[in-house]
Parts: sequence; C-alpha cells; structure tokens
Amino acid sequence: MSKIAKSWQPAGWRGIASNVTCREGGASFTIPRMRRAALLFLAGLIISAAPAGPVDRGPEDVVLSADGSRLFTANTLSGTVSMIRADDGRTLAEVPAGQRPTNVALSPDGKTLLASAGYSGEVRSYRIEGDALVPGPVGKPGFFPRGLAVHPDGKRVFVALSQGQSVAELRLPDLEETRRIAVGRWPREMALSSDGSRLAVGVSGTGGVAVVDTATGKLDFVEDFLGLNLGQMQISRDNSLVYFPWVIYRQLPITTNNIKQGWVLGARIGRVKLGEQARREAITLDPQGKAVGDPTGIVLSADESRVYCTAAGTHELLIYRLDAMPFQDFGTPDHIDAELLKDREKFDRMPLPGRPTKVRLGPGGQLFVVNPQLNAVQVVDPVAKRIVRTIDVGGPAEPTLVRRGEAIFHDATRSLDQWYSCATCHFEGGTNSVAMDTRNDGRFGNYKVVLSLHNLTKTGPWTWHGWQKNLDESIEKSLVDSMLGPKPTPDDVKALVAYLATLTPPPNPNAITDAVKRGEEVFKSEKAGCARCHPAPYFTDGKIHTTGIEERGDVYRGYNPPSLVGVFDRPKLLHDGRAKTLREVLTKHHNPDAIVGKGELTEQELADLIAYLNSL
Ligand code: HEC
Ligand code: HEC
Repeated sequence: MSKIAKSWQPAGWRGIASNVTCREGGASFTIPRMRRAALLFLAGLIISAAPAGPVDRGPEDVVLSADGSRLFTANTLSGTVSMIRADDGRTLAEVPAGQRPTNVALSPDGKTLLASAGYSGEVRSYRIEGDALVPGPVGKPGFFPRGLAVHPDGKRVFVALSQGQSVAELRLPDLEETRRIAVGRWPREMALSSDGSRLAVGVSGTGGVAVVDTATGKLDFVEDFLGLNLGQMQISRDNSLVYFPWVIYRQLPITTNNIKQGWVLGARIGRVKLGEQARREAITLDPQGKAVGDPTGIVLSADESRVYCTAAGTHELLIYRLDAMPFQDFGTPDHIDAELLKDREKFDRMPLPGRPTKVRLGPGGQLFVVNPQLNAVQVVDPVAKRIVRTIDVGGPAEPTLVRRGEAIFHDATRSLDQWYSCATCHFEGGTNSVAMDTRNDGRFGNYKVVLSLHNLTKTGPWTWHGWQKNLDESIEKSLVDSMLGPKPTPDDVKALVAYLATLTPPPNPNAITDAVKRGEEVFKSEKAGCARCHPAPYFTDGKIHTTGIEERGDVYRGYNPPSLVGVFDRPKLLHDGRAKTLREVLTKHHNPDAIVGKGELTEQELADLIAYLNSL
C-alpha cells in the first residue's frame, strides 16, 4: 500500500520535472504531470505515515502548529511540502509545491498552510484536513516569491518578490493580488509585527531593511547599511525592533591579514527600529581565529532573554544573552566583544552538524532548526545545549556526488579561520553583487563584481577576463585564493563541479511584450551589433573582446562577454559594477555606437532593447 508514496521520485533533483516515474513490484511506469498531483493527494490521504523516500527533500523552512504537535516544511529540492508529526517525526502528508519552495507560513487559525515556490513564481495554499494537506488556490505573482507573512486578520498574506523589488499583498483564501509595494532590490526574508501594522523586509540587493506601513501599503523607509545576505527576521514582542543576521563587506582585498582582521567579510546581528527611522544597531559575531560563517537563522526566546542564531557555514548555533549584547549604532568592531568571550552564559557556540538555516521556537522553549544538507529538522534544547532529536524529512541514506559538492560550496570551514564560504559571495550559486578583489585578475586593487554561477558549465571561459580555460583549476583557485583555504582533493573538485553543473537560473518572470519583440530585432541588427558578442542561448560567445573600458594595468587584455541571462536582476553591471541600470550601460559605458560605430540608437530603439534585455 505505501509503495506509491515510498517510491515516487521526481526525475530531476532540482524540483519536479514534467513526469514522474514510479516503481511498483519491479515494474516501472510513468505518470503524466496532470495526474500526479491527484495521485499524490490520494496517497497522502490513504497512507497516514508515508516513510521517507530516496529523494533529497533539502528543506529550507519549517513552521510549527500553535500547539507544537506538527511541523510543516518547505522541501526545496523535491518541490514538495510536508506535514510531520512532532512527537515521532512521522511524515503524515507530502504534496507537490511547485519548483523550489523556500518558505512556508500558517494562517492565524492554523487551518491553512501557505508555501512560496520561487522558480514557479507561485504562492500555493493547502487546507489542513486531519492528516491530509488538500491543495487549494494558487497565486501567481511571479518574480521569485520567497518570504511570507500572514496578517493577523487572516485575510491577506504578504509575499516578498525577490526578483520584483517589491512585496505583493495577496487576499486570502483565493490568493488574488490586491497590491504591490516597492521595497528595494532582492527582498527575501520578512517579519510582520504582531498587530499586523508594520512589515520589515530584508533587502539584500539594496543592502538594508525596508519598513512598510501595511495599512497604507506604503514604504515608510529603508534603513540601509551595506547589508549582504540578510537572513531570517524576528520582531520583538513589543513590536519596536526587528532582529536579523547579515554579512558585512568591508571592501578590502582578499589577503591573509585582511581576512584575519575581519576586513573582508564579517558576520553581524543587526536590529532596526520599526516606529521611526533610526540608525541600525549591530554587534560583531566573529571571534579572532575562529570566525562565524554565513549567519542565517534567528529567533528570540519567549522571555526575550536570549537570542539564538544559526551559522550555516560554520555549522553551529550561537547563543547570546540579549542584555549582554553590546549593540552599537555606529560602525562595529572587527571582532566579537571581549566580554562575551569570557562568559559562556553571555555567549556560547553549540555545534550543529550539517547546514543549519532557519530556526523556530517551539511552545516548550525547544528550537526547531531546519537543515537542508541533512534533509532534517534538528530539535535543540538551548538550555541544556544539546540536540534532542533529529527529524528525518526524507532523502537517501548517503549523499550523492552533487550533494557532497553542495555541502562543500556552503562550508565556511574551508576558508582561512572560517570567515566565509563560496555561498557567502555566490549566494545560492548566484552572486551577492558586490565588487571584490579576489586577485583572480592577477592584480591588486582592480575590484570585480562577483559573477553568477548559473549555467556555469556552458559559459566558459571563466572569470571576467575569460583567462581561465579550465573549470577544475578555476574551482581549485577559488578555494585556495578566494578563500585562502587548504588545497581540495580531486574528489572535492569533482563534487563541486557536479554541483555547479546543476545551477540554472530561475525562469525569467517578465512578459514577452511587443516592445520585447522589437527589442530583439534591435539586438540582432547590424546597427546595435549585440548578437555578435552576445549570441543566444547564453548571450556570450566564449571569446575575449576589448570594448574600451579596460582597466589600466590589467594583466589580461579584454573581457569575456558576461552571459546576459538574468541580467534584469543584477544591481551592479560591468566588471567593476560601475553601472546600476541597463540604460546607463548602453548610453554611457557600453554604447553601441562606440563599440560598433554604426550610429546612436534612437530613444525608441534603446527602450525596446532594454525591454528585450529584461526578458532574457
Ligand atoms: C570572496 C568572494 C568569493 C568567494 C568566497 C568565492 N568567489 Fe567565486 N568569484 C568571486 C569573484 C569576485 C569572481 C569574479 C572574479 C574575476 O573575474 O576576476 C568569481 C568568479 C568565480 C568563477 C568564474 C565564474 C564565471 O562565470 O566565469 C567561478 C567558477 C567561481 N567563482 C567559483 C567559486 C567557488 C566554487 C567558490 C568556493 C570554493 C568561490 N567561487 C568562492 C568571488 C568569490
Ligand atoms: C565587441 C563585443 C561586444 C558587443 C558588440 C557588445 N557587447 Fe556587451 N559586453 C561585451 C563585453 C566584453 C562585456 C564586459 C565588459 C566589461 O565589463 O568591461 C559586455 C558587457 C555587457 C553588459 C553588462 C552585463 C553585466 O552583467 O554586467 C550588457 C548588459 C551588455 N554587454 C549588453 C550589450 C548590448 C545590449 C549590446 C548591443 C547594443 C552589446 N552588449 C554589444 C562585449 C560586447
């Protein structure tokens, strides 16, 4: 009976492909996509305890029912959501949730589960009926929805459109969009005050926290502070402050001394006032010689005496006494406050194997930490400082080569004094969009924007200059030179390449309009000449060109045209990030008339061309 649920298996590990193959009694058959949902739904109803199958779930979020008896996970790799019984860790139901679901939320009455699916551009809803999750309305705002916050009135949900520079408000239960609020670049995680009046949004592309007045639907202010990779957000009980972990970038070249001093990348916990704009406050997390990598999840204890923060890159839980945290509103020291290091009651580090990310507080004070690498939720007693239980969300017994590569990619202990991982710069395999001096260009002082690794294996040669013709060597160099870590084994490199080969960009959310079609003609025209160097499908020709904005003294001559897939979502453009918009690229630094010499584009041609670029 349970065979169907046990063996259903998406064809691609990145999410549900169009067909799914089931094996029963040795025979294997393929179920068309339309019927699969119905089948899984049925399986969920009939089988109350579907055992974990062999597919990696890679959960990236977890929420708990109010009484703590059930957990709900967003299974990013399998493209499903699960309902799990807390006491024995049994999966009661697991249903499809679109491609790359990253966030889940519950309605205030606890009867509806919501999940955002980034690559599908959807927010899906499920009614919780006994031990079943019954699919309900689906909202389609597009633009890579992530963070979800349900208003306490139960009538609307806010969703961060991470590629849409905005937050959408969707009506419940039908998930119709009622308004869209501009908040800044790369909104990912959010938190709503308990009275529903203020929404805090971490905007990692803009670098700060946006605060929205939900009654008027207007952006109140953005408190900006060069914040990269802003993590989970948690609002204090009195609704006055929002807490969040983030990564600071200090804009100095990658050298042994600069890293050790904390002058390259550092870990912080910040807090921002919600009532009126005030300078952000922050504390430094990094002990000298043994830093904190990729701080990601945060939660406060019920009495707000403690702050718990997960560090995904250094595989640990950080435990702080809130009244001992030396928050300051201007600058931050390079290393953790010495007082915190003297007393483990004020600050302690507890190892959590795998990649601990989001963390939620259970009704009994236990912490529920989601761990995509282990396909698990770790239940932690933060007072005894021990792992009470590890709940298996589902996956193979042994990690695949791709999953081993993924683990290395997110492992900050592979860098000098464990300050950062590949993922700190290449967030989720993309980019954090800052210009860095990795000295990959053979020279000091010429900063280069972190390149996205999407479609990597198809867009060589590598680096901005395109001097790197061998991907294995490029990866080894990243570990040894960008991270100043130990030399990898050949197997490590093989695993990293296997993982990187799976990184594809999200589908482009912009509509194909008439302007886009006209823009494509401009792009291909002799006059603009773009297709010469940026041919489809990846919009790079694999060759090296000089376009007139080379740095003086560059060791390598010219640049490899960057792939233009996903260019609409890059906050910084060109090798040093000198341009912020496509218009600026094409009118100032990369003007087609200057490159191909066939005359200036008309205003109409330019507008159409930009519309086309936005659709790639
Ligand atoms: C400190 C930030 C940082 C870290 C950490 C980092 N990178 Fe990079 N990465 C960059 C920058 C900046 C570039 C562009 C460098 C250039 O072109 O000169 C880059 C480029 C690359 C490229 C070439 C991409 C292309 O399309 O040409 C690859 C591959 C790469 N990194 C892989 C990795 C891997 C794997 C890791 C971890 C082992 C890693 N990087 C760690 C900043 C970083
Ligand atoms: C002669 C080859 C060549 C031609 C022709 C050309 N490009 Fe480029 N393009 C490049 C190179 C090389 C770069 C990287 C330059 C740099 O960063 O210094 C680049 C960079 C870009 C970027 C920045 C991408 C990013 O991620 O930073 C955009 C956008 C772009 N080109 C669009 C166009 C468009 C649109 C056209 C036609 C109007 C065009 N290019 C014509 C070679 C070319």
